[in-house]
Amino acid sequence: MLSTGPQLRLLPLLLFCVTLVLLFQVTYAKRDLKSACVTCQQITDNFNKGFDRTAKQGFGGGNTAWEERKLSKYETSEIRLMEIVEGLCDSSSFECNRMLEEHEDLFETWWFKRKTKHPDLHKWFCIETIKVCCPKGTFGPDCNACVGGSDRPCHGNGMCDGDGTRGGDGKCSCDHGYEGESCLDCIDGYFSEVRNDTFSLCTGCHESCKTCSGATNQDCDECKEGWEEDDQEACVDVNECSKDPPPCEEDQYCLNTDGSYSCKACSKVCAGCTGAGPDNCQACASGYQDTEGTCTDIDECSQPEPVCSEEHQECINNKGSYVCICSKGYEEEDGKCVETPQSEKDEESEESEATAGQHGEL
Ligand SMILES: *[C@@H]1O[C@H](CO)[C@@H](O)[C@H](O)[C@H]1NC(C)=O
Repeated sequence: MLSTGPQLRLLPLLLFCVTLVLLFQVTYAKRDLKSACVTCQQITDNFNKGFDRTAKQGFGGGNTAWEERKLSKYETSEIRLMEIVEGLCDSSSFECNRMLEEHEDLFETWWFKRKTKHPDLHKWFCIETIKVCCPKGTFGPDCNACVGGSDRPCHGNGMCDGDGTRGGDGKCSCDHGYEGESCLDCIDGYFSEVRNDTFSLCTGCHESCKTCSGATNQDCDECKEGWEEDDQEACVDVNECSKDPPPCEEDQYCLNTDGSYSCKACSKVCAGCTGAGPDNCQACASGYQDTEGTCTDIDECSQPEPVCSEEHQECINNKGSYVCICSKGYEEEDGKCVETPQSEKDEESEESEATAGQHGEL
């Protein structure tokens, strides 16, 4: 009695594992049926290619009557069959080689006994004999017709799940623009141009419509975001850039587009702008001045009042600003430029040249 305790407690876990394995096998087998058909299709495609490739081949060359007889013998020979079968699978394709091994004798049966009556190898082998495929427009273990019928699965507007295989559930995945179980309905943004019980043509609305009943911007039922109805009941672009307050930051300009807008960075030389480049500034950034409508750099170093006022200082202009550095042979010490000590001069000359203060503040 004591020993049954732990075993009983393990039972649910065991059941769970068994269920998991079964579930896995069921889902795997379902997917397997589709891929088995794909493999079979590849095999029969390669068979037909091999058949064509060996059509002009004999046992050897020549065209004497004796060779001719040999050739006609080759056409239906076991040797030709073997040559074709050799090229059916890539050596790396496990599924293909497994299927081929399992059914190798069937190729011989077909080659010698069925070929004349059943010339379509795919139909005879994949669909009727090993039953991994179905005729086009049908699916599942019993090859039932797809939604919409086998001639036009999903009414020509989608793909039937498992179409042509023994797998799948026959449900439609509709092409873009269509929806519904049988792909006859139009999605939002599309309108029905033609429709009856078996046929449907959905066409895209004008870009300004969310939903519509026709192709122009006057046929909208509802405007898309970024568009609004004008006094003729047509959807037209909203100019977001003329809104108050403006939608962009101060160092950006606004670009209106159909149904939307974007904010772009102003040129660095601007303080606010109406467009791209240095000639669309509302004002110039500090360090820049307006020269005939374009913001250009101010050369602080060539102003009448010197900006680098310490002794032995040089002014160097750069974009939007300037720097004061100590002249050659001098280095910065406590805000002044002092002569570089003789002994260190050579080693540190580069360093002292680089010593610089922004905006003249040493
Ligand atoms: C449905 O419309 C299509 C295309 O216009 C047409 O070919 C078909 O015969 C129509 N079917 C019916 C049942 O009216």
